Amino acid sequence: MSEVVTSEMVVRPLSDAMGAEIIGVDAANMIDADFERLRDALHEHIMLAVRDQALDPASQTAFAKRFGEIQYHINSEYKMKDQPEVLILSTEVVDGKNVGIPDAGSDWHSDHSYVDRPTAYTILQSVVVPEHGGDTEWTNMVMAYETLSDDLKARIEGLIGIHSFNRARNPRWSRVSRHKDPDEYYNRVSPPDAFHPIVRTHPATGRKALFVSPRFTIGIKEMDDTEAQPLLDALFAHIDNRDFVYHHKWRPGDLVLWDNRQTLHLACGGVKPPEVRRMHRTTVLGEIPA
Ligand code: SIN
Repeated sequence: MSEVVTSEMVVRPLSDAMGAEIIGVDAANMIDADFERLRDALHEHIMLAVRDQALDPASQTAFAKRFGEIQYHINSEYKMKDQPEVLILSTEVVDGKNVGIPDAGSDWHSDHSYVDRPTAYTILQSVVVPEHGGDTEWTNMVMAYETLSDDLKARIEGLIGIHSFNRARNPRWSRVSRHKDPDEYYNRVSPPDAFHPIVRTHPATGRKALFVSPRFTIGIKEMDDTEAQPLLDALFAHIDNRDFVYHHKWRPGDLVLWDNRQTLHLACGGVKPPEVRRMHRTTVLGEIPA
Protein backbone atom coordinates (compact mmCIF):
# COMPACT_ATOMS: atom_id res chain seq x y z
CA MET A 1 0.00 0.00 0.00
CA SER A 2 1.49 3.33 -0.94
CA GLU A 3 1.85 5.95 1.73
CA VAL A 4 -0.70 8.75 1.66
CA VAL A 5 1.28 11.96 1.71
CA THR A 6 -1.50 14.48 1.51
CA SER A 7 -4.02 14.67 4.30
CA GLU A 8 -7.33 16.25 5.11
CA MET A 9 -6.06 17.70 8.37
CA VAL A 10 -7.66 21.05 9.13
CA VAL A 11 -6.30 23.26 11.91
CA ARG A 12 -8.82 25.89 13.02
CA PRO A 13 -8.05 28.34 15.87
CA LEU A 14 -10.49 28.20 18.78
CA SER A 15 -9.94 31.58 20.42
CA ASP A 16 -7.79 34.71 20.31
CA ALA A 17 -5.90 33.45 23.35
CA MET A 18 -4.87 29.98 22.26
CA GLY A 19 -6.10 26.55 21.15
CA ALA A 20 -7.09 25.04 17.82
CA GLU A 21 -9.38 22.29 16.73
CA ILE A 22 -8.16 19.56 14.43
CA ILE A 23 -10.51 17.94 11.97
CA GLY A 24 -9.94 15.15 9.49
CA VAL A 25 -7.39 12.91 11.22
CA ASP A 26 -7.46 9.53 12.92
CA ALA A 27 -5.02 9.88 15.81
CA ALA A 28 -4.70 6.08 16.07
CA ASN A 29 -3.44 5.77 12.48
CA MET A 30 -1.43 8.82 11.51
CA ILE A 31 1.36 8.79 8.98
CA ASP A 32 4.55 10.44 10.24
CA ALA A 33 4.08 13.58 8.15
CA ASP A 34 0.64 14.19 9.68
CA PHE A 35 1.93 13.47 13.17
CA GLU A 36 4.70 16.04 12.68
CA ARG A 37 2.17 18.62 11.48
CA LEU A 38 0.05 17.88 14.52
CA ARG A 39 3.00 18.32 16.89
CA ASP A 40 3.98 21.58 15.18
CA ALA A 41 0.37 22.79 15.51
CA LEU A 42 0.46 21.86 19.20
CA HIS A 43 3.61 23.90 19.74
CA GLU A 44 2.05 26.83 17.92
CA HIS A 45 -1.49 26.74 19.39
CA ILE A 46 -0.52 25.22 22.79
CA MET A 47 -3.76 23.22 23.08
CA LEU A 48 -5.48 21.13 20.43
CA ALA A 49 -8.93 19.52 20.41
CA VAL A 50 -8.80 16.68 17.92
CA ARG A 51 -12.44 15.99 17.07
CA ASP A 52 -14.17 12.63 16.66
CA GLN A 53 -11.59 10.32 18.24
CA ALA A 54 -12.19 7.19 20.31
CA LEU A 55 -8.76 5.93 21.32
CA ASP A 56 -8.90 2.88 23.56
CA PRO A 57 -6.29 2.86 26.37
CA ALA A 58 -3.74 0.86 24.32
CA SER A 59 -4.05 3.16 21.29
CA GLN A 60 -3.90 6.23 23.51
CA THR A 61 -0.67 4.90 25.04
CA ALA A 62 0.79 4.16 21.59
CA PHE A 63 -0.19 7.66 20.40
CA ALA A 64 1.39 9.26 23.50
CA LYS A 65 4.62 7.31 22.91
CA ARG A 66 5.01 9.05 19.55
CA PHE A 67 5.60 12.26 21.55
CA GLY A 68 8.17 10.70 23.91
CA GLU A 69 8.52 8.72 27.09
CA ILE A 70 5.41 8.13 29.22
CA GLN A 71 5.30 9.88 32.59
CA TYR A 72 3.49 7.82 35.22
CA HIS A 73 1.35 9.55 37.83
CA ILE A 74 2.41 9.29 41.50
CA ASN A 75 -1.11 8.11 42.41
CA SER A 76 -1.28 4.35 41.78
CA GLU A 77 -4.87 4.00 42.94
CA TYR A 78 -6.42 5.37 39.75
CA LYS A 79 -3.98 4.19 37.10
CA MET A 80 -5.69 1.67 34.83
CA LYS A 81 -4.80 -1.79 36.15
CA ASP A 82 -3.88 -3.33 32.79
CA GLN A 83 -2.70 -0.07 31.18
CA PRO A 84 -0.95 1.99 33.90
CA GLU A 85 0.08 4.62 31.36
CA VAL A 86 -3.55 5.78 31.54
CA LEU A 87 -4.88 7.62 34.57
CA ILE A 88 -8.65 7.58 35.08
CA LEU A 89 -10.30 10.91 35.90
CA SER A 90 -13.90 10.24 36.73
CA THR A 91 -16.83 11.35 38.83
CA GLU A 92 -18.30 7.81 38.78
CA VAL A 93 -18.83 6.09 42.12
CA VAL A 94 -19.33 2.31 42.13
CA ASP A 95 -20.15 0.49 45.39
CA GLY A 96 -19.33 3.66 47.30
CA LYS A 97 -15.86 3.98 45.72
CA ASN A 98 -14.52 6.46 43.17
CA VAL A 99 -13.43 4.69 39.99
CA GLY A 100 -11.06 7.53 39.09
CA ILE A 101 -9.76 10.82 40.51
CA PRO A 102 -12.97 12.84 40.86
CA ASP A 103 -11.44 16.31 41.24
CA ALA A 104 -8.11 16.27 39.37
CA GLY A 105 -6.92 19.66 38.21
CA SER A 106 -9.27 21.80 40.27
CA ASP A 107 -6.65 24.55 40.72
CA TRP A 108 -4.61 26.19 37.93
CA HIS A 109 -1.49 24.10 37.31
CA SER A 110 0.95 22.63 34.82
CA ASP A 111 1.09 18.82 35.03
CA HIS A 112 3.74 17.28 37.30
CA SER A 113 5.62 20.56 37.79
CA TYR A 114 6.42 19.18 41.27
CA VAL A 115 9.10 16.84 39.84
CA ASP A 116 12.47 17.59 38.24
CA ARG A 117 11.24 16.75 34.74
CA PRO A 118 7.67 18.04 34.49
CA THR A 119 5.27 16.87 31.81
CA ALA A 120 5.75 18.15 28.29
CA TYR A 121 2.45 16.98 26.79
CA THR A 122 -0.84 15.79 28.25
CA ILE A 123 -3.32 13.76 26.21
CA LEU A 124 -6.90 13.57 27.47
CA GLN A 125 -9.44 11.35 25.76
CA SER A 126 -13.07 12.12 26.57
CA VAL A 127 -14.90 8.90 27.38
CA VAL A 128 -18.12 10.13 29.00
CA VAL A 129 -19.01 13.80 28.53
CA PRO A 130 -21.76 15.24 30.72
CA GLU A 131 -24.42 17.56 29.36
CA HIS A 132 -23.71 20.13 32.08
CA GLY A 133 -20.41 21.03 33.74
CA GLY A 134 -17.03 19.35 33.40
CA ASP A 135 -15.49 22.05 31.19
CA THR A 136 -11.75 22.76 31.16
CA GLU A 137 -9.84 26.03 30.79
CA TRP A 138 -6.32 26.73 29.60
CA THR A 139 -4.41 29.97 29.99
CA ASN A 140 -1.64 31.13 27.70
CA MET A 141 1.54 31.52 29.77
CA VAL A 142 3.54 32.93 26.84
CA MET A 143 1.05 35.78 26.58
CA ALA A 144 1.14 36.10 30.36
CA TYR A 145 4.93 36.50 30.29
CA GLU A 146 4.94 38.90 27.34
CA THR A 147 2.36 41.22 28.94
CA LEU A 148 4.14 41.51 32.30
CA SER A 149 5.26 45.01 33.24
CA ASP A 150 8.95 45.73 32.70
CA ASP A 151 9.27 46.03 36.46
CA LEU A 152 7.86 42.52 37.12
CA LYS A 153 9.92 41.07 34.27
CA ALA A 154 13.05 42.52 35.86
CA ARG A 155 12.08 41.31 39.35
CA ILE A 156 11.62 37.68 38.27
CA GLU A 157 14.68 37.49 36.02
CA GLY A 158 16.76 34.46 37.09
CA LEU A 159 14.45 33.48 39.97
CA ILE A 160 13.68 29.85 40.76
CA GLY A 161 10.25 28.70 41.90
CA ILE A 162 9.76 25.96 44.51
CA HIS A 163 7.15 23.40 43.36
CA SER A 164 5.46 20.87 45.63
CA PHE A 165 2.60 18.41 45.39
CA ASN A 166 2.07 18.98 49.12
CA ARG A 167 -1.03 21.13 49.49
CA ALA A 168 -0.48 21.23 53.24
CA ARG A 169 2.55 23.47 52.56
CA ASN A 170 0.75 25.71 50.06
CA PRO A 171 -0.29 29.02 51.66
CA ARG A 172 -3.03 29.38 49.02
CA TRP A 173 -4.77 26.11 49.88
CA SER A 174 -8.39 26.55 50.95
CA ARG A 175 -8.19 23.31 53.02
CA VAL A 176 -11.15 21.87 51.13
CA SER A 177 -10.23 18.23 50.45
CA ARG A 178 -11.75 14.84 49.70
CA HIS A 179 -9.05 13.21 51.84
CA LYS A 180 -9.99 12.24 55.40
CA ASP A 181 -6.72 13.52 56.84
CA PRO A 182 -5.29 15.73 54.08
CA ASP A 183 -2.17 16.75 56.02
CA GLU A 184 -1.22 13.10 56.60
CA TYR A 185 -2.01 12.22 52.94
CA TYR A 186 0.00 15.04 51.37
CA ASN A 187 2.95 14.61 53.74
CA ARG A 188 3.05 10.89 52.93
CA VAL A 189 2.72 10.94 49.13
CA SER A 190 4.50 14.14 48.14
CA PRO A 191 7.88 13.76 46.44
CA PRO A 192 10.75 16.10 47.37
CA ASP A 193 10.43 19.70 46.17
CA ALA A 194 11.34 20.55 42.59
CA PHE A 195 13.04 23.81 41.57
CA HIS A 196 12.28 25.45 38.23
CA PRO A 197 13.01 28.81 36.60
CA ILE A 198 10.03 31.15 36.94
CA VAL A 199 10.51 31.99 33.26
CA ARG A 200 11.27 29.05 30.99
CA THR A 201 12.17 28.89 27.32
CA HIS A 202 10.41 26.40 25.05
CA PRO A 203 12.93 24.04 23.45
CA ALA A 204 11.13 23.94 20.07
CA THR A 205 9.71 27.45 19.63
CA GLY A 206 12.19 29.50 21.69
CA ARG A 207 9.21 31.30 23.29
CA LYS A 208 9.50 32.40 26.91
CA ALA A 209 6.66 31.51 29.27
CA LEU A 210 5.86 32.04 32.92
CA PHE A 211 6.22 28.74 34.78
CA VAL A 212 4.47 29.15 38.13
CA SER A 213 1.07 27.99 39.34
CA PRO A 214 -1.15 28.57 42.36
CA ARG A 215 -1.46 24.78 42.80
CA PHE A 216 2.20 23.76 42.83
CA THR A 217 4.44 26.84 43.28
CA ILE A 218 4.76 27.34 47.02
CA GLY A 219 7.73 29.68 47.27
CA ILE A 220 10.83 31.13 45.65
CA LYS A 221 14.29 29.69 46.22
CA GLU A 222 16.57 31.74 48.45
CA MET A 223 13.87 34.36 49.03
CA ASP A 224 12.12 34.90 52.32
CA ASP A 225 8.35 34.31 52.23
CA THR A 226 7.71 37.91 53.31
CA GLU A 227 9.05 38.89 49.87
CA ALA A 228 8.32 35.71 47.87
CA GLN A 229 4.61 35.35 48.63
CA PRO A 230 3.66 38.92 47.60
CA LEU A 231 5.71 38.46 44.41
CA LEU A 232 3.88 35.18 43.64
CA ASP A 233 0.57 36.93 44.44
CA ALA A 234 1.45 39.63 41.89
CA LEU A 235 2.23 37.00 39.25
CA PHE A 236 -0.96 35.05 39.98
CA ALA A 237 -3.00 38.28 39.83
CA HIS A 238 -1.44 39.02 36.44
CA ILE A 239 -2.24 35.52 35.14
CA ASP A 240 -5.85 35.89 36.29
CA ASN A 241 -6.85 37.58 33.02
CA ARG A 242 -9.64 36.24 30.80
CA ASP A 243 -7.83 37.56 27.71
CA PHE A 244 -5.31 34.73 28.12
CA VAL A 245 -7.92 31.99 28.59
CA TYR A 246 -9.57 29.48 26.29
CA HIS A 247 -12.66 27.80 27.81
CA HIS A 248 -13.41 24.36 26.42
CA LYS A 249 -16.85 22.78 26.41
CA TRP A 250 -16.12 19.12 25.69
CA ARG A 251 -17.79 17.26 22.85
CA PRO A 252 -18.05 13.47 22.79
CA GLY A 253 -15.04 12.21 20.84
CA ASP A 254 -12.72 15.09 21.78
CA LEU A 255 -9.11 14.06 22.21
CA VAL A 256 -7.40 17.06 23.75
CA LEU A 257 -3.64 17.63 23.85
CA TRP A 258 -1.74 20.44 25.51
CA ASP A 259 1.82 21.62 25.89
CA ASN A 260 2.37 22.10 29.64
CA ARG A 261 5.46 24.22 29.01
CA GLN A 262 3.28 27.05 27.68
CA THR A 263 0.03 26.79 29.60
CA LEU A 264 -1.73 26.22 32.92
CA HIS A 265 -5.06 24.44 32.97
CA LEU A 266 -8.03 24.11 35.26
CA ALA A 267 -10.80 21.52 35.49
CA CYS A 268 -13.93 23.61 36.08
CA GLY A 269 -15.93 20.86 37.86
CA GLY A 270 -19.65 21.28 38.39
CA VAL A 271 -20.79 17.82 37.25
CA LYS A 272 -23.92 16.87 39.18
CA PRO A 273 -24.94 13.21 39.69
CA PRO A 274 -26.48 11.24 38.15
CA GLU A 275 -24.49 12.79 35.28
CA VAL A 276 -20.97 11.41 34.96
CA ARG A 277 -17.74 12.67 33.45
CA ARG A 278 -14.94 10.25 32.56
CA MET A 279 -11.61 11.09 30.92
CA HIS A 280 -8.48 9.03 30.26
CA ARG A 281 -5.22 10.91 30.77
CA THR A 282 -1.73 10.09 29.54
CA THR A 283 1.29 12.29 30.14
CA VAL A 284 4.60 12.54 28.30
CA LEU A 285 7.82 13.31 30.16
CA GLY A 286 9.42 16.66 29.45
CA GLU A 287 12.94 18.04 29.78
CA ILE A 288 14.47 19.80 32.78
CA PRO A 289 13.03 23.34 32.41
CA ALA A 290 15.56 26.00 31.40
C1 SIN B 1 -6.04 17.68 34.51
O1 SIN B 1 -5.87 18.61 35.28
O2 SIN B 1 -5.10 17.03 34.09
C2 SIN B 1 -7.44 17.29 34.06
C3 SIN B 1 -8.22 18.40 33.49
C4 SIN B 1 -9.66 18.01 33.30
O3 SIN B 1 -10.06 16.90 33.69
O4 SIN B 1 -10.41 18.82 32.75
